[in-house]
Amino acid sequence: MEQVIRESDGFRLYRGHFSPVEQQELVAQVREIASHSPFYRPVMPNSGRPFSVLMTCAGPLGWVSDIRGYRYEARHPSSGAPWAPIPPGLLRLWEGLAEYPAPPECCLVNFYRGKGARMGLHQDRDEDAMDAPVVSVSLGDMATFRLRMEKEKHSRSWRLCSGDVVVLAGESRRAFHGIDRIFPSSSNLLGEKGGRINLTLRRVRLPSGEV
Ligand code: SIN
Ligand code: MN
Repeated sequence: MEQVIRESDGFRLYRGHFSPVEQQELVAQVREIASHSPFYRPVMPNSGRPFSVLMTCAGPLGWVSDIRGYRYEARHPSSGAPWAPIPPGLLRLWEGLAEYPAPPECCLVNFYRGKGARMGLHQDRDEDAMDAPVVSVSLGDMATFRLRMEKEKHSRSWRLCSGDVVVLAGESRRAFHGIDRIFPSSSNLLGEKGGRINLTLRRVRLPSGEV
C-alpha cells in the first residue's frame, strides 16, 4: 500500500508507488532504453573525473556532463543518435504527480552498482523550466537520499526503496540533494549483481509561448 510523506517545502515521497510487477515492467523499459541509448560513464566538468554512476537518457533532450560542462543535448554523446523515447508509463506518472501543463522532456537514467556508487549533493538547475517539479523513481537496491534546502545548514535524509517515487516541487525544487550510499544486495530486482536505477523526469524548456 502506498504511503505518502509530504513536507511543507514541497518535497513529497510516495513510498511503494510502484508494485513489484510494475517495477519489473519499468526495468524492462530501462533495458529497452539502454539497447537504443547505451549506458556510458560521464565525467565531471573541468577535472574530467569520472562519475561513479553510469548514465543514459530518454526523451527529446538528455542531460549530459563532460569536460565542457553540464547541459542538455538532443543526441547521445557517443552514438550521436537521438535518445530513446520516454516510456508511456513514465509520462503517465508525470501527468499524475507533476501538476504541470507540459510533459517532461528528459528522463535521466542513473545506474548505481558496486562499492562507492553515489551522487554528491547538487542542485538540478540546468533547466529553464525551474517552475516544473522533478519526479524521480527508485528501482533495485535501497539508498540513502539526502536533501538540504538552499539556505539551510541542516539536511534531512530518507531511505529510498524500490518502487518509491520522490517529487521535488515548490521550494524543494532548488534543494541540494544526492545519494549518500547504496545498500548492496538489498533488492533482487536487477538480478544477482544487484544495483540501483534512478529515473529522473524533468521538464527542460518552458512550455511554448512563455519567455
Ligand atoms: C539525481 O539527483 O540525479 C539522482 C537522485 C537519485 O538517484 O535518487
Ligand atoms: Mn538531481
